[in-house]
Amino acid sequence: MSDRFGIIGHPLGHSQSPFIQTYIYDQLGMNAVFHRYDVEESDLEATVEKMKVNGVKGFLVTVPYKTKIIHYLDKLDSFAEAMNAVNVVKLVDGYYVGTNVDGLAWLDASGQTELGEQRALIIGAGGAAQSIYYTLSQFAHLKIDVANRTVAKAERFQQFAPSRRFTKATSLAEAEAHQDQYDLIVQTTSIGMWPHHDQSPLKLTKLKDNVFVSDIIYNPLETKLLQQARLCGARTENGIGMLVLANVYAIKKWTGKQVSPSLVEKLVKKVTINLRSE
Ligand code: ATR
Repeated sequence: MSDRFGIIGHPLGHSQSPFIQTYIYDQLGMNAVFHRYDVEESDLEATVEKMKVNGVKGFLVTVPYKTKIIHYLDKLDSFAEAMNAVNVVKLVDGYYVGTNVDGLAWLDASGQTELGEQRALIIGAGGAAQSIYYTLSQFAHLKIDVANRTVAKAERFQQFAPSRRFTKATSLAEAEAHQDQYDLIVQTTSIGMWPHHDQSPLKLTKLKDNVFVSDIIYNPLETKLLQQARLCGARTENGIGMLVLANVYAIKKWTGKQVSPSLVEKLVKKVTINLRSE
């Protein structure tokens, strides 16, 4: 019998994860199927129960259930616990255990492996921002500012990685005013996502030399923020790499199987083509 995996969220109509998952199963010769569980919040609990009864061995969790799903899981690992958000669930001895690979997927996709005494700005303070913040906190000398519409939410970030000493919570306006001080800028909100592609959380006009600007949005492929960053001379990256790698990390958690860098690269190209033709 095929192994069963899936994704739970709402809406899932444009999700690229089913394409990414089934492409990898095919390439790795896995006997597995992937289902979409596009459910309303009122059906979340019953759906998770049904998945367990049906032996679904693992599933991805996406918007808007990354935190809400926690109520219906049996356990969380330390990452998910620290972030209070789950994006991958694995069935272990009959229990659903939640983890969070968003931050690792972002880091791997961005190739930012040697961050020293630099300054980073995270835009947003939701689940994705928490996960990236937590992951970036491993760089002991990096200074991380978190800018958010609701500054109080950014202030809570200190608790996700208590060893950090340099965190500062700022307003979006303040971050915009100091944009030329950052070496790394990561945009984690939904501002600028289709159909609101004419919006941007900050206006980028003057950036530091060699700055790297990443937006976790991939639809559109280049958000207004990324376009402004590119015009300022920044290196830029959209969210496709992170999306592909989150799927790759999920498969590794569920099955132990590794996906080669060349397959990751191929999938980034394929998903880019899919999105361009949508
Ligand atoms: P996720 O878990 O996917 O990261 P989330 O928890 O809903 O999403 O968080 C969304 C983020 O986008 C938050 O930082 C939110 O700002 P607030 O904390 O002030 O709500 C931000 N956001 C969403 N829409 C926004 C808008 N129109 N203007 C400014 N910030 C916005």
